Amino acid sequence: MYDKLNEIREETLRRLNEAGDEKELEALGVSVLGRSGALTEILRGMGKLEKDERAKFGQTANLVKKELEDAISLRREKIAAAMQEKRFALEALDVTEPGVRKRPMGRLHPMTQTYRTIRDALVGMGFTTFDGPEVEYDEYNFTKLNLPKDHPARDMQDTFYVSERVVLRTHTSPCEARALLALEPPFRLVIPGRVFRVDEADASHSPVFMQMEGLVIDRNISLADLKGTIDAFVHAVFGEEVKTRFRPSYFPFTEPSAEVDISCTMCGGCGCRVCKGTGWLEIMGCGITNPHELENCGLDPREWSAFAFGLGVDRVASLRYGITHNRLQYENDARFLGQF
Ligand code: DAH
Repeated sequence: MYDKLNEIREETLRRLNEAGDEKELEALGVSVLGRSGALTEILRGMGKLEKDERAKFGQTANLVKKELEDAISLRREKIAAAMQEKRFALEALDVTEPGVRKRPMGRLHPMTQTYRTIRDALVGMGFTTFDGPEVEYDEYNFTKLNLPKDHPARDMQDTFYVSERVVLRTHTSPCEARALLALEPPFRLVIPGRVFRVDEADASHSPVFMQMEGLVIDRNISLADLKGTIDAFVHAVFGEEVKTRFRPSYFPFTEPSAEVDISCTMCGGCGCRVCKGTGWLEIMGCGITNPHELENCGLDPREWSAFAFGLGVDRVASLRYGITHNRLQYENDARFLGQF
């Protein structure tokens, strides 16, 4: 019996170290100390022994039982500690590690980039920025600019009327009238803004688009001032190698008026699909401010002279970046805009 007891003791202690988790340990405990466990069986068999023998063996068996119980509970604590250790390791968070999820960087819209390039070139020549309302009086949008009611040139721009006297401005030119009335000449202004026209959206049209107006008023302004200024910012946007050409045109608010072409940014002037074989691309209107506009704004055209220009910022951005469909600039798809 002693041999058997010793065998159980050693076997249990050995298997104890092999028990990897709480469950295996529990099973081992039951198989030894449980109601029909190996040790319990032996204790039960003690009844067959002589009285003295029984007492002696009982003592030994109880010592072994106590030893095994202690060993099991010690092992249980060890397993629990190891489990906790493992969990801590899994849950550990290194707060000094740099974040892995990068936030995408925002980009400036191609129109914003283009506008800023032009503006910065002009600011370098003494221009300041000016602003006006998008919902505008007919008076400023047309009348003061030498486009009286029923003037046929009003048809050049299909207009959203808000009321008899109020329109969504069709160009940034009404800000010329506002500036001439509000500011003391001489001054040089760059005026960006949204403008509106009754147009179906297609590859090159949008009912709302961005324009930029320039206005310089001083004494003895000449066409040379206009050409030099335009050349300077065209080169800032398109590069020094790009040529400009001034073509006579008509605008009610300038006299003489011109349209500015640049040598084609795609083919360099040889003729291609973009410039329709001409080698030139039209980018803006300009001219010497019509004396009627100055008079309409309370200035004496014998004392003051001015020049002005107006361009579609979206169109210039399209040419600058090779965007084939202007409309893409108004859809605000970040995958598209992120390319510039
Ligand atoms: N306002 C004109 C347009 O919308 C563009 C323009 C032409 C503006 C000549 C000017 C100018 O200031 O002098 O098409």
